[in-house]
Amino acid sequence: MKTINARFILFLITSFLALSLTAAQPSAPNDLTMTPLIPKPVSINNAEGVFELKNNAVVWISENTPGMVKVAKYLTDRLNPATGFNVIILTSGTIPTSNCILLETNISNSQLGQEGYELKITAENIRLAANTAEGIFRGIQTLRQLLPASIESNTRQEGPWVIANGAILDYPAYAYRGAMLDVARHFFGADVVKRYIDLIAAYKMNYLHLHLADDQGWRIEIKSWPALTEIGGSTQVGGGKGGFYSQDTYNEIVQYAADRYITVVPEIDMPGHTNAALASIPKLNPDNNPVKLYTGTNVGFSTLQTNKDFTYEFLNDVFRELAVMTPGPYIHVGGDESHVTKKEDYIPFIEHVQEIVSANGKQMIGWDETTQAALKPGAIAQYWAKAENAKRGVSKGLKILMSPAAKAYLDMKYDPKSQLGLSWAGYIEVDTGYKWDPARMVPGISKENILGIEAPLWSETVSNMDEIEYLLFPRLPGYAEIGWTDSADRNWEDYKVRLGQQAGRFKFMEIDYYPSVKVPWK
Ligand code: ACM
Repeated sequence: MKTINARFILFLITSFLALSLTAAQPSAPNDLTMTPLIPKPVSINNAEGVFELKNNAVVWISENTPGMVKVAKYLTDRLNPATGFNVIILTSGTIPTSNCILLETNISNSQLGQEGYELKITAENIRLAANTAEGIFRGIQTLRQLLPASIESNTRQEGPWVIANGAILDYPAYAYRGAMLDVARHFFGADVVKRYIDLIAAYKMNYLHLHLADDQGWRIEIKSWPALTEIGGSTQVGGGKGGFYSQDTYNEIVQYAADRYITVVPEIDMPGHTNAALASIPKLNPDNNPVKLYTGTNVGFSTLQTNKDFTYEFLNDVFRELAVMTPGPYIHVGGDESHVTKKEDYIPFIEHVQEIVSANGKQMIGWDETTQAALKPGAIAQYWAKAENAKRGVSKGLKILMSPAAKAYLDMKYDPKSQLGLSWAGYIEVDTGYKWDPARMVPGISKENILGIEAPLWSETVSNMDEIEYLLFPRLPGYAEIGWTDSADRNWEDYKVRLGQQAGRFKFMEIDYYPSVKVPWK
């Protein structure tokens, strides 16, 4: 009896110790390879021991350039609220020997390209190295996910802020990884767009496509045609008050995105999807009489006049002003669902628009229908509906942006019970959204023909950020991983576990997500 009692007491003591250790270190990791990162990096190696970020930590940057100062500030802004520390940035002097995050650029590693990075975590410090400040920015997103989920809190949380030692090497599979937001069917203010940018940036996406004009609204100020926003911006689906971005506000959004290494692609959809412009500018109509504003959700009933000189004068003004607000290479001209434009009018129209975009120094992106026209290499076709259109684009030497509606449309319902979203392309549960390979989607279109992937969020059924988040999450991280991680390194069984472990992060980021039963939430 005596021995059993002693054993039992020993058991109690060890259990108590184990429990109190777990309580003190709620997420203390012991293996870097077990960290549930999304997107999954190219390689992760574990080493013994841990790094702990403590008070008085320092972020040290290897070069005092505006870009590096900005990413370092971005990093300390992620670290300070939750840790309660005052992590400072050092731009010169000796490198601290401990409690330090070193950000090092210009490492001339061709494998990493423009966006890749390497991370080395030791007990003394974290070294994040890349060729560019952009690579450092992507690596910071990984660093966020290596820390406990509570790092995402805006208020002070208990540490410890511990990361397992080891090394990560990482770079993207595709150059273009994007999401679209339709601000035309419902208008969303700059605050919503900025949060959307922050959410896509957290998963290393690098393009934001803004659908700025459609039948229901024109959302970008064009100074030569103020009626576009005064009239065309005055309503939205359901008849609400709509809205638009002044050029100043739009430029602020573009800069906010650029600070997160996200390029904005503006879209003015044409020749269909143009009722808001036709309602604003009488001369765009055949009889010079404006049409009525439209607040329904039908498509395919409007068209610009393809045989009127005025149409092209107007478009030249629009694209000239838009090009000035667009530091990125692309302008999107829509071109989808122009059901009331005759094919013999549609084709020369798209070719003329391509000339205008090109004369304003930009490359054209169009939905897949635009490949019917003689598009020039450098133009991009966005595949959403018809594989034959995308294949025709490849035969013309175009790169394809993959957004197959049945897989990648963020506005499709998850299942028949979903309150938000549409279902014309099918239901897209989280596994359906994840289980596809852009390079195997269309026979004859392989990786070298593909610029990247984009997940569009059309806004017929959503009118505020909570509703946007519900459609965005948890599908968005999957699209980000499809774009970033080589398809050979991806599978749903592994991904769903990592996704389930993001739940804590979603909570601290205050994301309203759909709690799919397909995902083992932790
Ligand atoms: C589209 O969904 N009409 C491109």
